[in-house]
Amino acid sequence: MQYKRILLKLSGEALMGERDYGIDPKRLKEYALEIKQVVEKGVEVAIVIGGGNIFRGVSGAANGMDRVQGDHMGMLATCINGLALQSALEDEGVYTRMQTALEIKEVAEPYIKRKAIRHLEKGRVVIFGAGTGNPYFTTDTAAVLRAIEIDADAILKGTRVDGIYNDDPEKNKDAIKFETITFKDVINKGLKVMDMTAFTLSEENKLPIIVFDMNKQGNLIKLVSGEPIGTIVDH
Ligand code: GTP
Repeated sequence: MQYKRILLKLSGEALMGERDYGIDPKRLKEYALEIKQVVEKGVEVAIVIGGGNIFRGVSGAANGMDRVQGDHMGMLATCINGLALQSALEDEGVYTRMQTALEIKEVAEPYIKRKAIRHLEKGRVVIFGAGTGNPYFTTDTAAVLRAIEIDADAILKGTRVDGIYNDDPEKNKDAIKFETITFKDVINKGLKVMDMTAFTLSEENKLPIIVFDMNKQGNLIKLVSGEPIGTIVDH
């Protein structure tokens, strides 16, 4: 395996599958099976999941809600998704632990870096909920932060497009995909990979970002095995 310890970032919206809202059990099961494959190969997997299928703080703020209140709701949404994913993984026989950045200790363990690492070493998938625990930060930033803290080899950002293009591939058919790109080129070309806070945190800490299509069966295991799937952002 090319990667021994990964941080997988999943979007909340992806959990909707074909639905307009909430969680699609079919999609959840598909993700659990993809993750199981890499765990069985001995790869240590940590996961950060978004909450956009349930609530987005930014959208709440746009509709007049206090931003901090909205972000708190968004953080709780990530916990709901985390619990759903934990359940789906356990249904497939994968050992998991969930840790949250906000304390809801009757529901999940509080985030403790050393404990998270021990869980990973024991082959448990660790799901990090509640983002960074702070408003004004995205789950991408939480994913990068946790990836750095647990010393992951890379952050794998699962999206519905299969990499980074020079233009929006959903709007421009002639858009060209990059196999690899440097952090500097992403900035110089004005490409959007993550929000700037997440992106610069990753760059400063030399954490490679891999953007790939998580909805294509087998992509995750291929990527982790070293096949050229998606786009790698590196120095
Ligand atoms: P080790 O024994 O250290 O390998 O890890 P472990 O997670 O199995 O040990 P622990 O005894 O800490 O946890 C046993 C179970 O309780 C696991 O399912 C944990 O996720 C869960 N657990 C531990 N701490 C908390 C907590 O603060 N809140 C909640 N809700 N569950 C917890």
